Amino acid sequence: MSKFEELHKLMSEMEKDDGLPLKKGATKLVFGTGNTNAEILCIGEGPGFNEDRIGEPFVGQAGKLLDKLFVLAGLERKQVFITNVVHHRPPENRDPLPEEISAYGKYLDKIIEIINPKVIITLGRYSMAKFLPNVFISAVHGKRYEVLVGGHMTTIIPMYHPAASLRNGVVLEAEKNDFLQLKEILSRMEEEEKKKVPESEQMSFV
Ligand code: URA
Repeated sequence: MSKFEELHKLMSEMEKDDGLPLKKGATKLVFGTGNTNAEILCIGEGPGFNEDRIGEPFVGQAGKLLDKLFVLAGLERKQVFITNVVHHRPPENRDPLPEEISAYGKYLDKIIEIINPKVIITLGRYSMAKFLPNVFISAVHGKRYEVLVGGHMTTIIPMYHPAASLRNGVVLEAEKNDFLQLKEILSRMEEEEKKKVPESEQMSFV
């Protein structure tokens, strides 16, 4: 099965899962969208008003800013896959509760497993905490971390949530700078990748 097919199968399972705690109050499941073969997976917090109506992540004001931030990093939205920590809108856009994050977590883990990204960009504190617990976003934003995710070493880059940048000009400037630096990080990673020689191509007599 292709990643595209696997993700569609997972989405159908999720749509049928009446045990998901935020399902009742939501209009649509916001599973995730983008390139199913992406090397970069972006994980936000949870759908807002517009996402709930349309069924796609980051389609409101925060999404418009995210598109501009991608440009700073030399990326386009269609290159990456975008999902959230919870896939139904929390009532009144409140923060997701720990038990809700854990209920949706098994699906998020499966999305990560299928996409198998080289890089995960977390948007905001909730997705950051999944991979980098016990840190402050103000201390780690924009930096590169190598973390074991589902058995694979994966690069995690925690970013501020674009909605936080819309509320605070200082955060916005920091986030713009982080996405500019992301361009550098991604090209450094590409160079590192080119230098790697597969074990199968190494001749050695010791
Ligand atoms: N904020 C998020 O965290 N996710 C969305 O999909 C939209 C806004």
